[in-house]
Amino acid sequence: MFWRLGGLLMAFACVAGAAEAEIKLVKPETTGGKPLMEVITARKSGRSFAKKALTDQQLSNLLYAANGISRQDGRRTVPTARNVQDMDVYVALPSGMYLYDAASHSLKLKVAKDLRRYCGKQPFHGKAALVLVYVSDLDKYKAMNMTEEQAAFYAPNHAGYISQNVYLYAASAGLSTVVCNMVDKPALSRQMKLRPQYSIILTQPVGVPAE
Ligand SMILES: Cc1cc2nc3c(=O)[nH]c(=O)nc-3n(C[C@H](O)[C@H](O)[C@H](O)COP(=O)(O)O)c2cc1C
Repeated sequence: MFWRLGGLLMAFACVAGAAEAEIKLVKPETTGGKPLMEVITARKSGRSFAKKALTDQQLSNLLYAANGISRQDGRRTVPTARNVQDMDVYVALPSGMYLYDAASHSLKLKVAKDLRRYCGKQPFHGKAALVLVYVSDLDKYKAMNMTEEQAAFYAPNHAGYISQNVYLYAASAGLSTVVCNMVDKPALSRQMKLRPQYSIILTQPVGVPAE
């Protein structure tokens, strides 16, 4: 009886496309891409997205560019003041909201629900392949005896570096992206079940351009 119920539940989960608890990302490509000056020139905001997922390699490269570990000592592809590394990068996918774990280069499921439409007030958020959410862990500043004023200045800067890396990777890979502050942050925070120490700074949909 019980195993039959278990089988039914599993079958239902497969049909419903249940979210994986962990998505192991493929190894990021740390060489190649378009020449830097071409990518800087091609960088732009794009707001139209095709209903198409990124490839596994694109997803991996994107997260590595956003906040990956690039050196033996654990430092990242983006700078942070006093190396506080306060920024968490979340990924809103159709299957759920995941946290990027740079150490294992994988995505950890946090909420098994499609939260893309909560990631911005404009309709394109719900259409992009994914939306990145940049979240600062304010407790990391406290742990390093940094003040609230310092945190308020540094965190948006840090999100800006991540965003620019994402813009440049998108330009290199032919993807569409736009950084966004027009976000109902309290509502998104509630949906993400974030504790008060976590502050949403910006979001950034990324996807295949529609045209
Ligand atoms: C901090 C910041 C917040 C932004 N917020 C939004 C937003 O909520 N929605 C949006 O459509 N574009 C947003 N943008 C994108 C700007 O509108 C865009 O960068 C600007 O029009 C210049 O275009 P470009 O990026 O193609 O050079 C934001 C840009 C920045 C830097």
